[in-house]
Amino acid sequence: MRIGVLTSGGDCPGLNAVIRSVVHRATADHGDEVIGFHDGWKGLLECDYRKLDLDAVSGILARGGTILGSSRVQPAHLRDGVERARSHLAELGLDAVIPIGGEGTLKAARMLSDAGLPIVGVPKTIDNDISGTDVTFGFDTAVGVATEALDRLKTTAESHQRMLIVEVMGRHTGWIALHSGMAAGAHAIVVPERPFDIEELAKLIGERFAAGKKFAIVVAAEGAKPREGSMAFDTGGKDMYGHERFAGIARQLAVELEGRLGKEARPVILGHVQRGGTPTAYDRVLATRFGWHAVEAVHRGDFGMMTALRGTEITLIPLTEAVDHLKTVPQDRYTEAECVL
Ligand code: F6P
Repeated sequence: MRIGVLTSGGDCPGLNAVIRSVVHRATADHGDEVIGFHDGWKGLLECDYRKLDLDAVSGILARGGTILGSSRVQPAHLRDGVERARSHLAELGLDAVIPIGGEGTLKAARMLSDAGLPIVGVPKTIDNDISGTDVTFGFDTAVGVATEALDRLKTTAESHQRMLIVEVMGRHTGWIALHSGMAAGAHAIVVPERPFDIEELAKLIGERFAAGKKFAIVVAAEGAKPREGSMAFDTGGKDMYGHERFAGIARQLAVELEGRLGKEARPVILGHVQRGGTPTAYDRVLATRFGWHAVEAVHRGDFGMMTALRGTEITLIPLTEAVDHLKTVPQDRYTEAECVL
C-alpha cells in the first residue's frame, strides 16, 4: 500500500511519535510505502511531500513539534480544494491519507471523506476538546508545563504578596485551566464554559485575603469570558482565518481585580510554551498507539474514521461523531475543582 501522512493545525507534543509509529507499522510490518506531506493540507494541495522511511523517523520520538511542518490551510480555503486533493492522491498512487490534527483538520478530513477520499484521522490537540476520545495526546504535556509554571509563580506571588492571573491555552474549552489549576492548587479557575461574574470572583479572592492569606493565583483559560454586562470586556476580535483572537483575559482580569481589591495584580500569559518541547511519556505512548491503529484501519479499509481512546482501549469512531461538537468541561468536573479552590 501507499499511505500519505500529514500534520495540520496548531502543533502539539506527540505529533512526531504518531508519524514514527505510522512509518514503523506501515513499512516494517506491512511492507507499505509512506510519504509525508509538508505543512499540513497545504502539502497535499500543492503536491509537496517527501518519502518517509525508518531512517527519516529515527530519533524523533521525544522531539516536540512536527518534522513535517504544519499550517492552518484547509482544502475548503480553495475553490478546487477537494478536486486538487483527489487528483494528487491519484497522481501519487495513494491508497489512504492519515491526517493528524484538531477540530479544523478533522472537519476537513470529514469533508474529503464525504467526497469519497480514503481518510483515517488521528486526533491531536493540547486543548483536549475533541469529542469521542477520552484524551488527546499533547494535553498531558501541556498540563505538566502549565502546572510547573503555576508552582513557580506561586512562590513569587507569595514573596510579593500579589495576585497573579495566569492565562493558559484553551480557546473554546477549559481543560488545561481545570487540570493545571487543580494540580497546582490555584485559588480560582475561570473557563469558557462558565462565564464568570467579576464581583463573585473578586469576592472569592477578597475572602482569601480577609482570611489572612497574602497572595492569590487565578488560572484563566484564554477563551474565558465575563458574564454579559459583568465588566467591560475587549473580545480581541478575529484573526485572518476568522478564528477568535486571544482577548488578553489575564490582563483584563488583573486590571479589574486590582481595582476592586486594592492589591497588586500581574497578568502572566503562558502561550505557546505549552505547545512546545518534548512530550511526556503518556503522550508518547498514546500517540504511538494512535499511529499503529490508524495504519491497521487503513489496511482494513475503515475509512471516514478516527482513532480514539475509550478507557484504556484504542478504538475507531466515525469522523462525523468527532467533529459534531467540542468536548467541553462538564459542570460536575468544575464543581469538583471548586471544592478545593
Ligand atoms: O488549538 C490549540 C491551540 O493551542 C489553542 O489552545 C490556541 O488558542 C491556539 O491553538 C493558538 O493558535 P496559534 O498557534 O495559531 O496562535
